[in-house]
Amino acid sequence: MSQAKRSDAIQEYRRDEFVISTDRARLDLDVVHGFLTESYWAKGIPRELVARSIENSLCFGVYSEGRQFGFAQVISDYATYAYIGDVFVLESHRGRGLGKWLMDCIMQHPRLQGLRRWSLVTNDAHGLYAQFGFTALKSPEKHMELHQPQVYERTGHGDRR
Ligand SMILES: CC(C)(COP(=O)(O)OP(=O)(O)OC[C@H]1O[C@@H](n2cnc3c(N)ncnc32)[C@H](O)[C@@H]1OP(=O)(O)O)[C@@H](O)C(=O)NCCC(=O)NCCS
Repeated sequence: MSQAKRSDAIQEYRRDEFVISTDRARLDLDVVHGFLTESYWAKGIPRELVARSIENSLCFGVYSEGRQFGFAQVISDYATYAYIGDVFVLESHRGRGLGKWLMDCIMQHPRLQGLRRWSLVTNDAHGLYAQFGFTALKSPEKHMELHQPQVYERTGHGDRR
């Protein structure tokens, strides 16, 4: 119990002027939604869905001087499986190792140790994740998905802010 409680705690990692924190309360929804709604994988996602997904996942924010520059979330049962999603570093801060550090913090998180499977989906960042042991599916014929990329258009959520 006490071990579980300890690892439930907000994690904070520091490097130079940057902080990575799992404190949901620190997240800037304007930054996270602003990026995701323009991203190739979640285009048009409504703000309220981003807020709901944040509420129900383990979130990592990258900050400097109180402003947020990066994000990732992990969906997990904290026992056997974790899915990494919505990873980004704002363009102004790319190419200086923040994405790799973010992945490092995720993989070292105390609640995400000893899992049987991790997964993620990427268009072109395979080289980033390969550095943390990710590979292409070894048996793609065993995996199934139900993918609905147009879901935000069909539900009429659109951009109804
Ligand atoms: C992917 C992303 C988070 C990387 O963040 P970053 O802070 O620029 O990355 P880093 O500086 O830590 O370096 C990334 C490493 O991965 C490698 N890499 C491989 N594919 C890459 C890609 N498509 N984009 C960025 N880096 C990539 C880089 O070469 C680098 O490795 P190296 O230092 O050994 O050469 C950032 O480019 C981003 O937000 N991209 C747009 C959103 C996106 O595509 N997110 C991933 C969705 S799965």
